[in-house]
Amino acid sequence: MSYNYICKEISKYPAHWLVTGAAGFIGSNLVEYLLNLNQKVTGLDNFSTGFQHNLDQVREAVTPEQWKNFIFIKGDIRDTETCAAVCEGKDYVLHQAALGSVPRSVADPLNTHANNITGHLNMLIAARDAKVKRFVYAASSSTYGDHPDLPKVEDKIGRPLSPYAVTKYVNELYADVFARTYNVESVGLRYFNVFGRRQDPHGAYAAVIPLWFASLIKGEPVYINGDGETSRDFCYIDNCVQANILAAVAQDKSAVNRVYNVAFGERTSLNQLFTMIRERVAVQYPELINVEPQYRDFRPGDVRHSLADISNASTLLDYKPLFSVNDGLDEAARWYMENLL
Ligand SMILES: NC(=O)c1ccc[n+]([C@@H]2O[C@H](COP(=O)([O-])OP(=O)(O)OC[C@H]3O[C@@H](n4cnc5c(N)ncnc54)[C@H](O)[C@@H]3O)[C@@H](O)[C@H]2O)c1
Repeated sequence: MSYNYICKEISKYPAHWLVTGAAGFIGSNLVEYLLNLNQKVTGLDNFSTGFQHNLDQVREAVTPEQWKNFIFIKGDIRDTETCAAVCEGKDYVLHQAALGSVPRSVADPLNTHANNITGHLNMLIAARDAKVKRFVYAASSSTYGDHPDLPKVEDKIGRPLSPYAVTKYVNELYADVFARTYNVESVGLRYFNVFGRRQDPHGAYAAVIPLWFASLIKGEPVYINGDGETSRDFCYIDNCVQANILAAVAQDKSAVNRVYNVAFGERTSLNQLFTMIRERVAVQYPELINVEPQYRDFRPGDVRHSLADISNASTLLDYKPLFSVNDGLDEAARWYMENLL
């Protein structure tokens, strides 16, 4: 069944979804998409790295009637009572809340552990007790760690290279045990460098794409950690949203209780990425067309290359990413030009 058909069916039969991390980058995009499908959505966030302005943008992107279907709860997944309350009566949980960023976890492993492991376990327990139909959660490509193979295939992982990677792998282990022990149906989505509208360009732990757009637009230097030949499988946000929706409603029992790579399936080096972003910013700022990046040391904990094999998601979930890196960067550029000026 095509994604379009599935979305039409979903909009005919409204369900109640819980999105944790709703004020964040991926969470706010999930909320927007679900509201546009006329679903009832509860969002949970403690605003540790998310923003009210993300939710304000969602309100602008949906109709007033659709916005009435949204309930926002300010709360923390480290609190078991909050988790129990927000899971009550929900059909689907899309669990996105976590502290992202490899360097943040290197600087503060304890806090990363509490949010990403204890919080995830709390959510699994609450989802089990509320008997939700499906628990979809944000896993991560960082779980591949030091495994040398490219492209990355789900069942071949190496040793984690950071505390963040440990937490995301533990999420998968808990989901697997909850499926076998308590019959909690889950799907883990190993995101590969998701980017697009509302990804935060500010702060010490900003991801590379929003950071570079912001630096170029503000006329600040762009730094590349290492020689620029480090590569990633950059995945536009709409592809990530598609994977979440398909994972939540997949009927085939063999498609659940497993993890999937969520990516576009193409590798882009940081040097190539810099050129692609510079080209787009230079449309508005022609003086930047020859600006060069500044190279500095490699960052501890970063993997060198990353590329996903997305055949499991495409075979079992019918995942078909619609946005290439180029298409996604066009969309992201439009958004950053409008929102950062
Ligand atoms: N963006 C990516 O490329 C990427 C890649 C791999 C995995 N992920 C995972 O995807 C998820 C979403 O990431 P994102 O990029 O949207 O990050 P984000 O920081 O924009 O969103 C995370 C949201 O979770 C909220 N949050 C954090 N801890 C919380 C807590 N204890 N209780 C309630 N809310 C809490 C934050 O306030 C924030 O709004 C995370 O689990 C992240 O680890 C993201």
